[in-house]
Amino acid sequence: MALVATVAALLAALGGALWLAARRFVGPSVQHGGGDSGLMHGKTVLITGANSGLGRATAAELLRLGARVIMGCRDRARAEEAAGQLRRELRQAGGPGPGSDAGEAGELVVRELDLASLRSEEPRLDVLINNAGIFQCPYMKTEDGFEMQFGVNHLGHFLLTNLLLGLLKSSAPSRIVVVSSKLYKYGDINFEDLNSEQSYNKSFCYSRSKLANILFTRELARRLEGTNVTVNVLHPGIVRTNLGRHIHIPLLVKPLFNLVSWAFFKTPVEGAQTSVYLASSPEVEGVSGKYFGDCKEEALLPKAMDESVARKLWDISEVMVGILK
Ligand SMILES: NC(=O)c1ccc[n+]([C@@H]2O[C@H](COP(=O)([O-])OP(=O)(O)OC[C@H]3O[C@@H](n4cnc5c(N)ncnc54)[C@H](OP(=O)(O)O)[C@@H]3O)[C@@H](O)[C@H]2O)c1
Repeated sequence: MALVATVAALLAALGGALWLAARRFVGPSVQHGGGDSGLMHGKTVLITGANSGLGRATAAELLRLGARVIMGCRDRARAEEAAGQLRRELRQAGGPGPGSDAGEAGELVVRELDLASLRSEEPRLDVLINNAGIFQCPYMKTEDGFEMQFGVNHLGHFLLTNLLLGLLKSSAPSRIVVVSSKLYKYGDINFEDLNSEQSYNKSFCYSRSKLANILFTRELARRLEGTNVTVNVLHPGIVRTNLGRHIHIPLLVKPLFNLVSWAFFKTPVEGAQTSVYLASSPEVEGVSGKYFGDCKEEALLPKAMDESVARKLWDISEVMVGILK
């Protein structure tokens, strides 16, 4: 009896492993959100957090489409390493390598996120992708004294976008793409404690920052009407990246977690498809203020469409980052 049970368990495990492997190697297929190589020739794209995960995969895809990609990163060494890998991968895939004059692939440029110099050094900007993010970190403050997740995910991009608006307008038609998350559903904009000094819940604060990404997008779309600069927001799905670096997974559970993530999470290339689509596809020319997943428009909860909250958040953010004193 015990032997039968052991054999059955082994067969079940083997069947499960084969099923997982089949899912990885046979499907799901990567649907390229952008399109033909060459689609982004002559376009300059700035991606924040481009040295890792989704940002890195988005950079690779847009390079393949011929864009001049600026990797906006906080750590030059990490960014140069990622850029070197991307160049090698592209050459191995048969392309001439970004930066070469030999053919289709675009150009790759590494920049530290020095906002002032970025503004003065770049003659044009066709696409800004607000991608960088931090997830469920312990309570920390940014140099300017903001709660870390709200500061990085919302306020940092709020300031960057505002500083680059003039350049985006003079380069129009141009696009802004904001990477949010479905977890916005569990957040609220608690104006009375935006720095979480009264209480801190790391999950709530991540969700709040991602809700802020959506409210920011919708308010910005309203302000940009008639300028030929569009802004849209997306959720990428659950993607295997370095985002969980602050999450502690017990050693014994790690192999199981790795197996589940390998089987069920999207790869970075799969997760990047909606960012690439919104950055490059002619299908979304002129579309603004919308929320996307898997390259399709999706409905939002009412709290993410509340115009008065969006306006109030904009006004307070302006004061917080020092655009308005
Ligand atoms: N992965 C998912 O399942 C998932 C799901 C929904 C939404 N998202 C969103 O997708 C975006 C990309 O995340 P990812 O999954 O690709 O994670 P990731 O691999 O951890 O990449 C995050 C990027 O953001 C950068 N970053 C973090 N803090 C920063 C700061 N203070 N200043 C400048 N850059 C900073 C990181 O730079 P360093 O390498 O220097 O730290 C890194 O390049 C995030 O906005 C995230 O919220 C991801």
